[in-house]
Parts: sequence; C-alpha cells; structure tokens
Amino acid sequence: MEFIEGKLNEEKVFEGLVFPKTLNPSICNGTTELLVKMIEEKREWLSEILKLHNAILFRGFNVSSPEEFRQVVEAFDWEEMPYMGPTNRVMVTNRIYNANEAPLHQFINFHHEMFLTKQYPSKILFLCTQPSPEGGETCILPSHIVVSKMEKEIPEFVSELEKKGFMFKIKTANVNSNAILGTTWKSYLNTEDEVEAKKRSMEKLGCNSVEFNEDGSAEFVYGPLNPIREFEGKRVWFIPIVRHSANKKDTRTSFGDGTPLPSKGLETYKNILDKVCVDIKWEKGDVMLLDNLSVQHGRRPAKPPRSVFVSLCK
Ligand SMILES: [Fe+2]
Repeated sequence: MEFIEGKLNEEKVFEGLVFPKTLNPSICNGTTELLVKMIEEKREWLSEILKLHNAILFRGFNVSSPEEFRQVVEAFDWEEMPYMGPTNRVMVTNRIYNANEAPLHQFINFHHEMFLTKQYPSKILFLCTQPSPEGGETCILPSHIVVSKMEKEIPEFVSELEKKGFMFKIKTANVNSNAILGTTWKSYLNTEDEVEAKKRSMEKLGCNSVEFNEDGSAEFVYGPLNPIREFEGKRVWFIPIVRHSANKKDTRTSFGDGTPLPSKGLETYKNILDKVCVDIKWEKGDVMLLDNLSVQHGRRPAKPPRSVFVSLCK
C-alpha cells in the first residue's frame, strides 16, 4: 500500500518543500499494524523524504498507546538513544518516554533535543494520544532556515557570534520537580559526588565548568561556542540563544568575551522563529518524525488533559 500525501492548514513551504510532509493511509481507518508494515516496506523512501522535508507527520493511522508507538519506532530500525537531560522524563515502556512533564501552562521554548549533551539523537518521534482541548501544539521550525534568515537580516550579529563565540549558563534545580529544568545535578549526572559530577559534566555534557551552590543547585557554564553547527551540508542554529526556561534567571547568555548580546540580535532571532515555526495541531493517534539535526521543537501552553510521548534514535 502507498502513502497518500496529506495537507495541514498550518504547514509552510521552505525552499519549495512543504514542512512538515503529511502522510496518510489510502484507507479511512488506518491502524498501527498497517503503519508498521508500510514503514518496513518503505524505509529508504521515508529516509529520503525526511532528508528533504526534515519533518513527517503520519496522520490517520490511529496509533493509540505507548506500546503501539514502540512498534512504530522499531519499524524504522534505528538504534535507540537513551534520554539524558535536565528535565524529568519517565520511561513508560521500552524506548518510549512521556514528553516533557513541565506544567502545561508553560511554553517550552524551541530547541534541538539534548543540545546540552555531547551526543544527541539524530531523530525524535512523537505520539499524541490525547490532544489538549486548548493549545498544546508541538511547534517545529527548520533550523537551517533560521541561519539563512539571520545571515540575511542581521549578518554583523551572526559574524560577531561566530567570531567571539556564545556563552550561556544553565542552573539546575535544587529539588527534583516537574519544572522545565526540574532535575537536580545529582539526578542529572547520576552521582552524589561533586568531583565525579564535575568529571561527568565535562565528559557527557561538554560544558566548560560547573559550580555547585550551597542550596543544592548547580550552574553549568557552556562556551564560548558557535551556536551554528553543520550537519550533512546544512548549517543549523543548534544552540538556542534565547532563554529556554520559564524562569528568566535560569539561563544567562553573553558573547564569549562576556559582553552582552545586543537586544536587536535577540529580537531578530525571536522574530525569525515566530515567522518560520509551524504549530502542529495534534489529532489523536498522530505520529511525528523529526530530523533532530535540522528541526527545533517546542510546546505551546496547553490546557489539560494532554498526552504526548517521545522516542529518541541515534
Ligand atoms: Fe524536547
């Protein structure tokens, strides 16, 4: 059976290619079984589509549980990437985690998954089993388009960033919670020992220094680094330069020499994100596949209930 090309009201077109590409079954009542079979038959074709469009939404296959989602993920035959990050995330079944449990009223800013670690997944998949009654869209954007627009609109800022580098600090929580950065350094790095934590933070996170605070929190300092990275010929805006926490104090940014980033550069960056993002209005049973090396994702504020699951591949 062939996939039928679908259309979303919210989709956009970049460089002549629709974003995301929507694929439907050719029958009314698609099933997980059918999707698994079609993925297995068309793996190579789907990889090509993903390379071109960077994001694929599978709609109409009625995937209804984390267990069915695992079967879909495994059909792609990609290796699993275990989650490591400053956000509490629970594995619900093999390979499948609940998505970020941050309070639903909060906006989760755009990011590439696990950009804070040295190794990050090349693909991320989502399943929605319960769309929010209001809001709760997973918002996505093509990160290479952000680079080209930034270079066009504010080239002097981009070259200054690339020359001086970019620095940022992330403060972890002092008590584990469901906040966006709700994991303590002990849970994050899986050790109680500060010396070992320091070692692991350099090895696994690739940050430049870490400070432990008396209140039990820790501050990880990254940079100077270039927020733009190149993957397979695409230059993408890999490190977000605007805060990605609901708490403004959690993240501080500057140029590599410590001088502040000009507000014009940050405003331009934010405006470009607003212009190029697509807010995916989930339907029950949707599965979305993103190239994590070229697409940033985030979450719009939502009203409960909302159930989205996630899986990461190397
Ligand atoms: Fe994420």
